Amino acid sequence: MKKKFIVAITGASGSIYGLRLISALIKFPVDLFVLISNSGRQVTAHETDFKSGPIAGYLEKAGEVFHEQAILTEVDPSDFFAPIASGSFQHTGMVIAPCSMNTLAAISSGITDNLIHRAADVCLKEKRTLVLLPRETPFSLIHLKNMTRAAEAGAIIMPPSPGFYTRPATIENLVDSMVARALDHLHLNHDLSPRWGS
Ligand SMILES: Cc1cc2nc3c(=O)[nH]c(=O)nc-3n(C[C@H](O)[C@H](O)[C@H](O)COP(=O)(O)O)c2cc1C
Repeated sequence: MKKKFIVAITGASGSIYGLRLISALIKFPVDLFVLISNSGRQVTAHETDFKSGPIAGYLEKAGEVFHEQAILTEVDPSDFFAPIASGSFQHTGMVIAPCSMNTLAAISSGITDNLIHRAADVCLKEKRTLVLLPRETPFSLIHLKNMTRAAEAGAIIMPPSPGFYTRPATIENLVDSMVARALDHLHLNHDLSPRWGS
């Protein structure tokens, strides 16, 4: 069966993590569902060259090459009728990169105000892979407790805090070292970033 993944970009700083992850995933023969929150759109426009419009158009313009079997579907985060809103829709994992404290709070308390929250909630109830890249600094006790609650419910908490042992030469190298760890949790074989000992 073709692997299906969900990637969400929310309104924390670090939209580039989500964009690089999506760029990496479309190199595989996968069905990819992408959600971008309203704040995610605004922060992405502020921090990156992706200003507006469909993400597929942005990727093509940026010269990203899709695997011939990759299909990217952008889903409106207010569309609760989308297939990914249901536990009966099977997929292989979801990553929220970056994950705002707002979205983290919603997930850790089971509030599903938009389709990003709902799809994450479904991952937890169906025991599917959910990787969160929560971004804020410093973390308050509320943030830390929300991360603990999400982890206890099965989420993988992966703060975007890249290692420097690969001696990254560019911001893209640095970001990709985190994206590589997320791809590992999606069980994809890749060589996006050097591995220690290789
Ligand atoms: C430029 C900018 C940077 C932001 N960075 C963060 C951040 O790093 N972490 C965070 O939790 N919220 C951050 N926010 C605030 C979120 O965008 C805001 O809480 C929003 O409600 C999140 O909504 P969402 O979870 O639906 O994306 C930032 C906002 C702006 C405008």
